[in-house]
Amino acid sequence: LRASFAPKAQKTNQNLHQHHFQPQASYKVAVLGAAGGIGQPLSLLIKMSPLVSVLHLYDVANVKGVAADLSHCNTPSQVMDFTGASELANALKGIDVVVIPAGVPRKPGMTRDDLFNINAGIVRDLVSAVADNCPDAFIHIISNPVNSTVPIAAEVLKQKGVYDPKKLFGVTTLDVVRANTFVAQKKNLKLIDVDVPVVGGHAGITILPLLSKTKPTVSFTDEEIEQLTVRIQNAGTEVVEAKAGAGSATLSMAYAAARFVESSLRALDGDGDVYECTFVQSEVTELPFFASRVKLGRKGVEAFITSDLQGLSEYEQKAVEALKPELKASIEKGIDFASKQA
Ligand code: NAI
Repeated sequence: LRASFAPKAQKTNQNLHQHHFQPQASYKVAVLGAAGGIGQPLSLLIKMSPLVSVLHLYDVANVKGVAADLSHCNTPSQVMDFTGASELANALKGIDVVVIPAGVPRKPGMTRDDLFNINAGIVRDLVSAVADNCPDAFIHIISNPVNSTVPIAAEVLKQKGVYDPKKLFGVTTLDVVRANTFVAQKKNLKLIDVDVPVVGGHAGITILPLLSKTKPTVSFTDEEIEQLTVRIQNAGTEVVEAKAGAGSATLSMAYAAARFVESSLRALDGDGDVYECTFVQSEVTELPFFASRVKLGRKGVEAFITSDLQGLSEYEQKAVEALKPELKASIEKGIDFASKQA
C-alpha cells in the first residue's frame, strides 16, 4: 500500500528505509467524520498502514459499526470508536495526526462555498477540541470550502494560543491525483511516473495545475492546456453530477487523503524525502494562505518548493493573478467568521 501511494522515485527510498529501520507501527491517527462517505473508505486505507498503531474513529452517529467492521482486519492498528461531543476529547488525546472530513458535501448545482454556513461551524468546533486535547498534532482539513475552513482553523488555534502554521494543512492532494491521472491519460504516459504540481486553492479557478512543471517533461498544445486545466478544476463537479444528489467525490478523495496521511507519517518517522502539495499558511505569494508543494518533516512544513512557481508559462502567470481575488475573499470570509465568534 505504501508503495502504491508514492511516486516511483520515492519507492526505492522507502524500500531501503523499510529494510534498514523496520518501521514500527507507532503513530496514532484520528478521523473526525469517520462514518461518512469519505470517512469510511479513508479509515479503511489508514487501517492498512503499517505506520499506524492506533486509529480513533469519531463521528456524531453510526461510527460503532464502522469501527467494529474495520477492527476485524488483521493489520496492526487498534481501532476505537467515539460518538458525539462528550467523547471527542478522548478521541483526540495522544493523537499525532487528525484528519477532518466532517461536514456536508455538495449536491448538483452547489459550489463549495455554498457549504460554508454548515461546515464552518463544524470545523471551528472540532479544531477547538483539537487545540484542547492534541495541540501538537498535524491537522488535515478536508471539509469544504477548504479555502475558508483552513483559515478558520488557524484563527481558532490562534485564539487558543496553540497555532503552529507548519502543522495545519488543507488537503488538496485530490487535485494532484486528478491532474496526474488526466495528464497520463491524455499524453499516454505511465501513470506512476507522472507528477503535476497543483497550486493556489481548492475551488474552481483557484485550483491551478502547473502543467509546464509536469514530470516527466512533456509538451502540451495551448488547447490541451486549456482543456486539462478546466477538467482538473471541474473534476469534483464531474463526480457530483454523476452521483446526481448522492454526494461528492468520496473514494478518490479517501485515496488522496490516505496518501497525504501516509506522507505525514513518513515525515514524522524521519523520512527525508517527502513532498506534497497542500494549502497552508504561506509567504510564497502575498496571500496569507496558498497551496504549493512543500517538504514535510518531523515538525510539519520544513520548506516551500518555490521553484515550482518560478518560470511559469504566460498562461499560468495570468491564471495565478486571476485566482488571487477569489482566494483572498475566501480566506477573509473564513477569518471573519472565526473572529466574530471569538
Ligand atoms: P458525508 O455527508 O458522507 O459525511 C460527512 C460525515 O461527517 C457524516 O458521517 C457526518 O455524520 C459527519 N459529521 C457531521 N457533523 C459532524 C461533527 N460536528 N463532528 C463529527 N462528524 C460530523 O460527506 P463526505 O462526502 O464524506 O464529505 C465530507 C466533506 O469533505 C464535505 O465537506 C466535502 O465537501 C469535503 N470534500 C473535500 C474534498 C477535498 O478535496 N478536500 C473532496 C471531496 C469532499
